[in-house]
Parts: sequence; C-alpha cells; structure tokens
Amino acid sequence: MKNSQPESQSSRRRFLQDSAVATAALGTLAIPGNVHADTGEVLKVGLIGSGGRGTGAASDALHADPQAKLTAIGDAFLDRAQMSLKSLQENKEIGNQVVVDHDSIFSGFDAYKKVIDQVDVVILTTSPHFRPQHLEYAVEQGKHCFVEKPIAVDAPGVRRVIETCKVAKQKGLSIVSGLCWRYDLGVRETMRQILEEKAIGDLVAIESAYNTGTLWHRGDKPEWSRMEYQIRNWLYYTWLSGDHINEQAIHSLDKTAWLLGDKHPLRATALGGRQQRTDKKYGNIYDHFTVFYEYPDQKRVYFTCRQQAGCSTHVDERVLGTAGQAEVLRHRLYDTAGEPMWRYQGEKPSMYRIEHEHLFKSIREGSPINNGDYMTNSTMIAIMGRMCAYSGQTMTWDECFNSDVTLGPAEYAWGDVEEPAVAIPGKTELA
Ligand SMILES: NC(=O)c1ccc[n+]([C@@H]2O[C@H](COP(=O)([O-])OP(=O)(O)OC[C@H]3O[C@@H](n4cnc5c(N)ncnc54)[C@H](O)[C@@H]3O)[C@@H](O)[C@H]2O)c1
Repeated sequence: MKNSQPESQSSRRRFLQDSAVATAALGTLAIPGNVHADTGEVLKVGLIGSGGRGTGAASDALHADPQAKLTAIGDAFLDRAQMSLKSLQENKEIGNQVVVDHDSIFSGFDAYKKVIDQVDVVILTTSPHFRPQHLEYAVEQGKHCFVEKPIAVDAPGVRRVIETCKVAKQKGLSIVSGLCWRYDLGVRETMRQILEEKAIGDLVAIESAYNTGTLWHRGDKPEWSRMEYQIRNWLYYTWLSGDHINEQAIHSLDKTAWLLGDKHPLRATALGGRQQRTDKKYGNIYDHFTVFYEYPDQKRVYFTCRQQAGCSTHVDERVLGTAGQAEVLRHRLYDTAGEPMWRYQGEKPSMYRIEHEHLFKSIREGSPINNGDYMTNSTMIAIMGRMCAYSGQTMTWDECFNSDVTLGPAEYAWGDVEEPAVAIPGKTELA
C-alpha cells in the first residue's frame, strides 16, 4: 500500500498529466482518476453482486468517503438487489448516501454492464466466476474498482485479470483487492516484524490452516432452473466458487504468499475429498484439502483447509523461522524455546473499512493503487492446490498457470445446466 500514501502537489499534478497522456494514447478512458481528484466532488459508486459481502462493502465505501453516493446496484436476481438496497437505505449512518433511482436497479447476466456504465467506482462482489469478465469491462470503461477475492476460478481467468490489471495501471485506475488481511493493522505490523525486522530469523516453513465449519445453503424451489439453483448456491459449484480452497481459504494462502515475497510456488502435491457434504445438493466441491507447496530455496508451505461440522477449528499461519516462530493472525512472536517475545497491542480498526479508505483516498489524490500482482498470484496458488488435489497429481506452477481448462458454460442462460461431477483423484484430469 505504499502507493496509497498522500502525494505532494507537484507529484499529483504530474500524475494528472501522465494520466491525461495515457488517456489520449489509449483513446478509451472515460473517467480517469483525475476527473474526481478534487476533494468534495461526488463519486458515484455502483454495486455488482449485492449479497452479504457486497452490501457490507458498499456500506464500507460510503463510510470511507462521505462524498461518495451509491447510485446503481445490480445482481443476477432482482430480490437480492432489492434486499441489499433496503438494508443500505435503512442504515442510519450512510442511508442518506444511497440514492439509487428505480431505473438504476438491474438484474440478470448483463446487469454488470448497466451498473458500470453509470458510475465512477465499482464494487465487484458476485461469485468469483464472473470476476474476470466484470473487471475487464469496468477497466475498459475507465472505472476504479474494489475487487473481492478470489479474482477467478481457473487459470485462463487469472491470466485475463493479469492483462486487465496491466491496462488499469496504464489508465491510472485503482484496483483494490478484497484480500483484506493486507489492510489489517495487526497483521501488517506482524508481517513487518517477520519480514523487515527479521525478528524470527530466516523463514524456513509455514504451517497454514483454514479449518472451519460449514457455510450457508439457500435451499431449492421448484420454479428455479438448475442454472438459478447453482448460482444461488454458488459456493458448492467449482465453476462458480473455485471450491472452498479458493473461495475461503485463499485468505490463508494469500498470507503465505505475502510471507514468501509474493513469489509463486514451484510445485505442489495435494490431497482432498468430501466426507460430510456428500449430498447432491452440495454440488461438486470438496470439504477438505491438504496441500504441500514447494517454494524456491527449499521453503515449504504445509497447508490444510476444512469445512466440516463438529471438528476442531483453527485459522492461522504459524511461521517457522531460524530464530523463533510467529502466529500471524494472533499477532504473536515466540523465541526458539517457545517463550513469547512480542505481540501487537496497537489499534484494530476494521480492515474492511480501511480497504475503502485507501481506495477513495487514492482516487481523490490521483495516486492509484493496483493490488493486481498479489491478488492474481494468490488466486492462482489456491487454484493450483485444487488442481493438484482433484487430479491427484504433483504439478508444477507452469503446468497449472498455463492450463487452458476453463470452468463453466460458454454462455450464460437461465435454463438447465449439467450437474458437474465430483473430481476423483487419479481419474479426473484437470479442473
Ligand atoms: N473478504 C472477505 O472477507 C469476504 C467475505 C465474504 C465473501 N467474500 C467474497 O465476496 C464474494 C461474494 O460473497 P457473498 O458472501 O457476498 O455471497 P452472496 O451469495 O451473499 O452474494 C453474491 C451475490 O452475487 C450475485 N451474483 C451472482 N452471479 C452474478 C452475476 N453474474 N451478476 C450479478 N450478480 C451476480 C448473487 O445473486 C448474490 O446476490 C465472493 O467472492 C466471496 O468470496 C469475501
């Protein structure tokens, strides 16, 4: 987040000039950061994918910037858009910043375009499958973006987002990622202790866990097509969520990537399967994974994630160093005898709010943030774990990253879709 720091007037002016040059060169930029750089100007915000996180992110955005207004909302389903809008309008703190006309509530597969066309800043919080398509269009239209994790469900999607983020950089647009721990003050200081102060010496390995319980299921209705059923219950379909290693446990893999300099692993070996969620209603995702990631310099990440009821839960990274150990989420460091050495005792404001404070500040100051590198790398690491577990094969980064396997239908329509098969290691090729 270095680039989100306030800039001097002269460097800001330079940015505005550079941005204008880039605009002229690209010829498509409608609303670069400079148009809204002046404090006080209203920034129009659009929400795409108005579920739990989207509604929360819209609220965070409006809290973060009192001059921002939510002016458009879109969801695959009208009831979801209306429910979200009602809850935002009724929010006593930011309700007066919600000014969505009846004509600016959109539903369906093309709702995203209608929202993006009307606003300056977009919040992309649908199920992950749609992120590459939505982000690409937003950047084409010159919009600043808040982009929830993960940013894709397959390697072609990751590669598409990498290209989009390059264009965003050229256009001077901000791309802030929802990998929220990067914005948490306690985690940031713990990372600084490990990475900059070298408080536990050289890093040797990381034991990383996202072992948790089960999540929601939204039921079924006779009038729902199978496409509607799958999109409403998107968590359980690999083509929509990327499986829980990608959808949820990416938070852990993102911290391990951060600890290892945001490099990518060389190879991975993984196990996984489903033991509790065997019912057909749970689509085709697994309920547990174990992945061993091999990094350069003999470094290792030993990773597990589980979504099963009635089991022990644990979410954290234990970092093993030559001079001690760290627990990242607990913000604690220990010496080689296991004695506590340090713990973070500073403030803990909401990391979700901080993300948006950085985003809006970057827009107003003309100092764009681009989280593209780490959000694409961390997503690909999660997808790599899934590919190795589903196939039962040890695979290299290059094999995974260059894969042409695209998940999901070629076109979206509200009809019947195939029930995807659960992967069987040793039999399933790549998914
Ligand atoms: N950073 C975090 O801590 C955090 C927490 C929760 C969720 N998330 C992420 O946020 C995203 C959304 O999760 P959620 O919990 O809000 O799920 P949700 O199901 O509550 O919301 C997703 C919404 O997107 C809509 N949608 C699906 N496809 C769409 C399309 N093509 N166009 C428009 N709308 C579409 C759905 O109808 C739904 O209302 C996921 O990527 C998830 O991983 C991040």
